[in-house]
Amino acid sequence: MPTTKHQHLTKFLAASVTCFFIGSIHGVLQMLPPIRAWLDSIGSPYGGPGHMIDPLAHAHINLIGGVMMMTMAVTYYLLPKFTGTDIWSRKLENTSFWMTIIGVTCFYSSLMIFGYWEGMLLLEEGATAIDAVHAIYVPIGAISATIMGIGLWLFLANSAMTIIKARKNK
Ligand code: HEM
Repeated sequence: MPTTKHQHLTKFLAASVTCFFIGSIHGVLQMLPPIRAWLDSIGSPYGGPGHMIDPLAHAHINLIGGVMMMTMAVTYYLLPKFTGTDIWSRKLENTSFWMTIIGVTCFYSSLMIFGYWEGMLLLEEGATAIDAVHAIYVPIGAISATIMGIGLWLFLANSAMTIIKARKNK
C-alpha cells in the first residue's frame, strides 16, 4: 500500500468501521423475536442483566467505537487544515487511539459476557444468584470505562492544545 501523509489516521477509520459492523449485527440480533423475548425476560431495556446488553453495550460500541473513532479521525485530519498547524502531539494521538479502542473493547465485551452470564443465572436461579457475579463485573466495568474515558479526554486535550498552539503562532 503506497504511504500517504495521513496514513496514521487509517486505524481510526478501520476501528470505526469494525465497531459499526459489530454494533449493527448486535442491533439486528436483539430484534429477532427469540432473542428479544430473552432480553425482555432479563430486564432490558430498563435494568438488570438485560440493560447491560441492550441498550448499554449496543449504544457504546456504536457511539464510542463507531461515532467517536470517526470523529477523532476527522478532527485529527481537519484541525491541521483549518489551523495551518500540525496536531500538538502525535504520541498523544496514538495513545488516545489505543486507550479508546482498548477501553471500548473491554467495556463492550464485559457488558456482553456478564450480561449473558447474569441473565442465564437470573432465569435459572433467581435474582439473588446474580449478586456474587455482578460484584466481579463492577470493578471490570469501572476500569474499562476509565480507560475509555482517558482515551476520549486525551483526544479532547490534544485537540484543544492544537488550537491553542495555532493561536499562539498567529
Ligand atoms: C468514557 C465514556 C463513557 C462512559 C464510561 C459511559 C457510561 C455510560 C453508562 C454507565 C450508561 C448507563 C446509565 C444507565 O444505567 O442508564 C450510559 C448511557 C448512555 N451513554 Fe454513555 N458513557 C460514555 C460515553 C458516552 C458517549 C461519548 C456517548 C455518545 C456519543 C454515550 C451515549 C450513551 C447513551 C445514548 C446512553 C443511554 C443508553 C440508554 O439507556 O438508552 N456515552 N453511558
